[in-house]
Amino acid sequence: MELLLNEVEQLKNEVSLEIVESPSQLEIFRIKYLGAKGKLKKMMELIKTISIQDKPKAGQVLNELKLFLDEVYSAHKNSLEKKEESTLNFDFSLPGIPLNIGAKHPLRIVLEDILNIFTQIGFAIEYGPEIEDDWHNFGAMNLPEHHPARDMQDTFYISQAPDHNNNMLLRTHTSNTQARVLEKTKPPVRVVCPGRVYRNETISARAHCFFHQIEGLYVDKNVSFSDLKHTLYHFVKIYFGEQVKIRFRPSFFPFTEPSAEMDISCFICQEKGCNVCKHTGWVEILGSGMVHPKVLMNFNIDPEEYSGFAFGMGLERIAQLKYQINDLRLYSQNDVRFLRHFAAH
Ligand code: PHE
Repeated sequence: MELLLNEVEQLKNEVSLEIVESPSQLEIFRIKYLGAKGKLKKMMELIKTISIQDKPKAGQVLNELKLFLDEVYSAHKNSLEKKEESTLNFDFSLPGIPLNIGAKHPLRIVLEDILNIFTQIGFAIEYGPEIEDDWHNFGAMNLPEHHPARDMQDTFYISQAPDHNNNMLLRTHTSNTQARVLEKTKPPVRVVCPGRVYRNETISARAHCFFHQIEGLYVDKNVSFSDLKHTLYHFVKIYFGEQVKIRFRPSFFPFTEPSAEMDISCFICQEKGCNVCKHTGWVEILGSGMVHPKVLMNFNIDPEEYSGFAFGMGLERIAQLKYQINDLRLYSQNDVRFLRHFAAH
């Protein structure tokens, strides 16, 4: 009797480990356990070896085993039928689930388009550090300590050093990369330098504590202001279109002389006057000028022999005009509803 109980238990374990995933496996299962020469049959035969008084108990155990095997068998059968049904109901002509591929950020799109225009006319791409020392951000760019123009750019200082040139800060403009490039390369130099810049401003629709610029620098023999104008005209015509008008206004930057700010005609209102152009019909898009002789001298470049031009523009401003994005905060809030607008690019 003990033996029978053990074998029944063992058989049950064996059965629950069986894997039945196809009709042929189900048939094999049936023959193995429930068939005429199956394991249940063999087990039933053991009843002969059981003593009279144990027989009723043994009969009960074997009966339960049969019920158990029947149950497992029909459970497998049911699940196979269900599986078959679900595959049959599948409509293979349905369109697939679309792949959600990411979209480029509008600033990235603007940057790539601008870089394309400049690299096609021979500008190389250079990157400078966002964490910068005072010398490369200010001093070398002809903005010595206490220079009033430093106030225009509310600087995030990181650490102070005994020599103010070594004070660390977050760069306030990409012009630091002009210094980095001139430090390591002899003219001719023709580069565009994109990157993020930081200024300690209260965040609002019109100001942010970080934004993006792209710097341009061209130093060679005989580079003139007309080269600067021609290069920027070329850029505007390609990027914004032939119909866009351009004007230069005299301006001031410590690292350029003469300096000019460039405006383009406001194509949002067709120059009729709107919020973006503050009802003037013109929008400023960049600062520029001829590289100041002192900047060249800081890098042992003879201003009698070489001259250059430089410009710097804000990418957010360009994107605002191109895509009519009027709140600077949208660029860094990561709202997918905003970002999805650019998914087609
Ligand atoms: N660095 C200036 C700014 O951030 C822009 C500029 C760059 C002007 C190069 C002239 C030449 O406003």
